[in-house]
Amino acid sequence: MIKSIKDIVISGKRVFLRVDFNVPIDEKKMITDDTRIRESIPTIDYLLNNQVKIIVGSHLGRPEGIFKDEFSLKPVFNRLKEIYGDKIKFVPDVIGIKVDEEKAKLKNGEILLLENLRFYKQETDNDEDFSRDLSKNIDIYVNDAFSASHRAHASIVGIPKFVSELAIGFLMEKEISNLSKAIVSPEKPLVTILGGAKIKDKIPVLKNLINFSDSIIIGGAMAYSFLKFKGEEVGKSIVEEDQFGNISKILELVRKRGIKFLLPIDHIVAKGIDDNEIIETKTPIPEGYMGFDIGDETLKNFSEEIKQGKTIIWNGPMGVFEKDIFSRGTTEIAKAIAFSTAFSIVGGGDTVSAISKARVAEKISHVSTGGGASLEFLSGIELPGIKVLKEKQ
Ligand code: 3PG
Repeated sequence: MIKSIKDIVISGKRVFLRVDFNVPIDEKKMITDDTRIRESIPTIDYLLNNQVKIIVGSHLGRPEGIFKDEFSLKPVFNRLKEIYGDKIKFVPDVIGIKVDEEKAKLKNGEILLLENLRFYKQETDNDEDFSRDLSKNIDIYVNDAFSASHRAHASIVGIPKFVSELAIGFLMEKEISNLSKAIVSPEKPLVTILGGAKIKDKIPVLKNLINFSDSIIIGGAMAYSFLKFKGEEVGKSIVEEDQFGNISKILELVRKRGIKFLLPIDHIVAKGIDDNEIIETKTPIPEGYMGFDIGDETLKNFSEEIKQGKTIIWNGPMGVFEKDIFSRGTTEIAKAIAFSTAFSIVGGGDTVSAISKARVAEKISHVSTGGGASLEFLSGIELPGIKVLKEKQ
């Protein structure tokens, strides 16, 4: 059993709190979406209220072992300072003498934010000495970084080996409990909606969810590969022919389980992504045109199916929703899910943005902070960051 921070005595202890503050930051160093920071607050507040000395570690982007200002956690520190004022301090490193000094100076009820863990290649290499250094003078390790727990990195799987007491935070607890609800005895019917560009990334989750779902809805660019495989003409739309083997296996599984499998029947197409002259067409898509969104009839079919669901899982947009002219399908699907009575789960960076763009986030039962992590979790894979905590208990 994994312990929650509520199950252990933490008062006065020095805790290493692994969070995922990998948030989008623009050229002016402004955080454009602070969801992951806000979602970490309940855990930080609980630790502060319990007079813990908190050392917070996170990665930001992929700096590949080099100190680069564009990947600094300083903008995150500035955001946290607005919330925690003088209680929070920042140290521009993650290991070494300066960090040790700051750790030693920390008082109960204070936070020390470390710099980006990935400024050291040893983080992604899960280097043992690096993990030992990170865990120096740490009494308790708390993982609240669900969205990074699919990475077998030092701060996720390495530190737990050197710390005797391990626990998870409230965000991690919430993610595990809600995502599990969808795959362990979900309320039926379960409707799974997958979209986005790359089929390859969605194959494991598709294979797993076929086992529990009553219907599968496929939209986005990946739908064109399915249509092409079935012999439909899709014009210039993106087709991943190297995935035809996987598509064939998926369709065979669907056939064996006898579940519904819905593909788009009409599309919003254009000659190119920057072409503003769009037309709505049924399959076959005319030569020279590419599909960028689902059409009206498809939207109607998909929405009807969504209405039947008691549990809904959605990952991946229905089209190129970043462009207004191709955003209707994704926005309307977001609304259909939000206004259904089902227990709904939405994951993946793009899908979460689409939910915010449609202004329905608060109507979704669980918006996961995890992109890759939620996909792996729903694929039935035990995340390394969760596994290590179970093994040690
Ligand atoms: C994410 O944004 O999905 C996590 O922070 C993990 O980031 P990564 O894909 O760079 O490991």
